[in-house]
Amino acid sequence: MGAYRDHYRRSIEARDEFWADEAKLIDWQTPPSQICDFSRPPFVRWYVGGRTNLCHNAVDRHVATRGEQTALHFISTETDAEVKYSYRELHAEVNRVAAMLQSLGVGQGDRVLIYMPMIPEAVFAMLATVRIGAIHSVVFGGFASASLATRIDDAQPKVIVSADAGMRMGKVVPYKPLLDAAIDLAAKKPARVLLFDRKLEPMALKAGRDVDWAALRATHHEAAVPVAWVDSTHPSYILYTSGTTGRPKGVQRDTGGYAVALTSSMRKVFALDPGETMFCTSDIGWVVGHSYIVYGPLLNGNTTIMYEGVPLRPDPAIWWKICAENNVKTMFSSPTAIRVLKKQDPDYMKRHKLPALRYLFLAGEPLDEPTARWVSDALGGTAIIDNYWQTESGWPILSAQIAVEDTPRKFGSPSFPVYGFDVVLKSEDGSAVGADQKAVLTIRPPLPPGALSTVWGDDERFVSTYFGSFRDEALYNTFDWATRDADGYYFILGRTDDVINVAGHRLGTREIEEAVQGNALVAECAVVGVADSLKGQVPVAFVVLKDPSQAGDAARSAIAQTVDREIGAIARPAAVHFVTLLPKTRSGKLLRRSIQALAEGRDPGDLTTIEDPSALAQIKGALGIA
Ligand code: PRX
Repeated sequence: MGAYRDHYRRSIEARDEFWADEAKLIDWQTPPSQICDFSRPPFVRWYVGGRTNLCHNAVDRHVATRGEQTALHFISTETDAEVKYSYRELHAEVNRVAAMLQSLGVGQGDRVLIYMPMIPEAVFAMLATVRIGAIHSVVFGGFASASLATRIDDAQPKVIVSADAGMRMGKVVPYKPLLDAAIDLAAKKPARVLLFDRKLEPMALKAGRDVDWAALRATHHEAAVPVAWVDSTHPSYILYTSGTTGRPKGVQRDTGGYAVALTSSMRKVFALDPGETMFCTSDIGWVVGHSYIVYGPLLNGNTTIMYEGVPLRPDPAIWWKICAENNVKTMFSSPTAIRVLKKQDPDYMKRHKLPALRYLFLAGEPLDEPTARWVSDALGGTAIIDNYWQTESGWPILSAQIAVEDTPRKFGSPSFPVYGFDVVLKSEDGSAVGADQKAVLTIRPPLPPGALSTVWGDDERFVSTYFGSFRDEALYNTFDWATRDADGYYFILGRTDDVINVAGHRLGTREIEEAVQGNALVAECAVVGVADSLKGQVPVAFVVLKDPSQAGDAARSAIAQTVDREIGAIARPAAVHFVTLLPKTRSGKLLRRSIQALAEGRDPGDLTTIEDPSALAQIKGALGIA
């Protein structure tokens, strides 16, 4: 492992020199005068003095060298649409949308909230926003009104970009009514709403606020909007993510550091040269979509495939058909998606020859060994690469880095620390961590380029949430448990906090609890993540009703509907159990971990602090455990 080790070591020990070299991968209007400013830990500023622009690096600079190459290849198996945009065409579209946003009053530093299905216009809107030095906040289309309203209030966008509807499994999923309800709920209303009409669902425009995309685009057809050169540290986007509290955190990304790290990762981690094709099956509403549908591939001059649809329609061979027909070299997906495919007729996996598909990266949740083995066997020559990271990191923290060195992989392990991340395993009591010993995965700051620079509007929260866990050293806490084996391979063992991972979607149990509590029947509740063979984890709710006689299916479906409305169907509890008491400590703290253990058929652990042991008996009773 010489090449990997040397490369990694250099990134930590000769940090500035290393990242100065990587910075040459992008264009700078003004080169940085300082690579890393860590004078105010734990805050770090990368490429200080440098001026650049994300859209210039993702689009403009490729027009001269690869203008006719496909930049964005959109495929929808929902609407049967397929459109290719060359870098030249993408440039023209982005200029139009930039002019449209400017005409709606968006200027440098303003926020643009994007609540859109997986359509090219969402990508145009993202790129147009950063082109003019504004800051986007993409909200996943599966989030419902109340979640959207919280994000509107936090980001305070001047403009929201949205659409009439999305489509999933052949069914229209309306967006506009949810957006209208969210704006009604929000304390700070956006001045204007730009709406792309896919003609899937009738959409009434609100006079004075709503603007039709096509009509506005027509007036900006020939637009040429110069890029706004911004400081490297200028925020490019905010992306909300769940944590321990009910209030999502706005992960804030810079401009220069993100552009460098993402371009670099495309070469060294994802092993793509400019001109090659990547297919990432995530959604633009998540960090994987931001980094590996949009920014990474475009920054690196690749062709990116954007897919609207599910892996099973029109049949379970669809993803492999897309890979075969488009010479996809690197694919990026989630373990849940592979587990879904694993349940189908194995012939679908053999229908297409995939000589070009070299790598399948899987991330977002633990990749269990049987699934990794199955997909490895099914795809034959494709390397399966588990990679571990977070919304906060922006790009992989642990992964094989095949373009640096093709190190052997172990199923169940995302291999080693990625260059730039000074990974430290920290035991809870501060003692040294030996091989195979469970500890908290932390990162010694400064966090590398591309990672979050702060929590939007809340520096204090950034410091206390992420760097306040250990008394002796201000290490960045990932809130994940991990081990490292004697060969140096890492294994992720799950979260240390109340975050759960449902089909690769990160959700906070507190958020779901707050949603459940939003139902008028509910007095109190506990939500825990329970292991699920398909989705990894599913939320399960234990509910105390105000009137216990109401316990039954009607109350169950009412609670499910409340969660759908407050957060979205992704957070809907897989089961709702009724109890009259929740297990708590004498100081009133919910014993979530004990409840979770019972729900997973494990030992509930230390219960000496429980206030009323009969509460646990009720949980057992609800679960049908003797
Ligand atoms: O618990 C870890 C899990 O997903 C969390 C981050 O989720 P999110 O912010 O949505 O970012 C996903 C980016 C890929 C982590 O804290 N996780 C992510 N990747 C893995 C993983 N757990 C196990 N193995 C992984 N490869």
